[in-house]
Amino acid sequence: MERLKGKVCIITGASGGIGACSAITFAREGAIVYALDLRKRNLQELCQKCQSFQKKCAGLEGQKFAGEIRYKTVDVSKFSEVEKVVDEIYAETKKIDVLVNNAGITKDAQLLKMSEEQFEAVIDVNLKGAFNMGKACAKYMVENQKGSIINTSSIVGVTGNFGQSNYAASKGGLIAMSKTWARELGRKGIRINAVAPGFTRTEMIETVPEKVINMLIEKTPLARLGSPEDIASLYLFLASDESSYITSQVIGIDGGMIL
Ligand code: NAI
Repeated sequence: MERLKGKVCIITGASGGIGACSAITFAREGAIVYALDLRKRNLQELCQKCQSFQKKCAGLEGQKFAGEIRYKTVDVSKFSEVEKVVDEIYAETKKIDVLVNNAGITKDAQLLKMSEEQFEAVIDVNLKGAFNMGKACAKYMVENQKGSIINTSSIVGVTGNFGQSNYAASKGGLIAMSKTWARELGRKGIRINAVAPGFTRTEMIETVPEKVINMLIEKTPLARLGSPEDIASLYLFLASDESSYITSQVIGIDGGMIL
């Protein structure tokens, strides 16, 4: 327990399936979590959920829940908004230990039908959003000579995927950007890793037909989809000091789908 005790951790896309689960997981491990997202009401619900867990834990002997979740709304694709929010967080805490670039969207279409707007929207959130957050946070991590940045890629960023030129390009770009940051910032004590989840049960894949889901499960050696908890556990490990000699890696978490 308390694997992130006292660490200031920023998670983007924190009101979504993986992000919300990770925010609670991090807070349970003692982190001060800044949950960032576009959706204010969902962020408020997340904070309430965290507080009710805290109350429940307080009643159970031997259980502690030292962390907390604070929220801020931001559009990660807008650098000026991002910089303002990150500066506010630093002013409140005087350090930033962990950044999880988890916000992401899809706007699928095959190449011949994909509009410029669809392409740009996905690149703006998934790739430029991570750049914006990384740039705004890294200067504070450099000051402390310590930090961990986790960029959420996808198996699709490694293999490509039918109907996802925009999404695959953004997730592949995140891998290349992570390796670049690892080279640039390693000597300043900052670790950067990319996480490449397989298909994970969240809102993001709600529109995928059950037939396709069953096909995907058949192709997966562990014979199930991922859960938000699976991904949150990996984020937790990479955020904690347990992974202090791991940087520049792309870590697949896909039930063995890519062999
Ligand atoms: P989700 O759709 O449940 O959550 C995404 C969150 O990002 C939402 O809360 C949304 O409001 C937020 N967001 C979108 N645009 C934003 C913006 N401009 N600024 C700030 N926040 C914004 O999706 P999920 O599944 O939790 O995905 C989390 C990450 O994992 C994403 O980067 C996704 O691409 C990645 N991933 C998901 C997989 C899956 O099968 N669910 C598979 C591989 C990767």
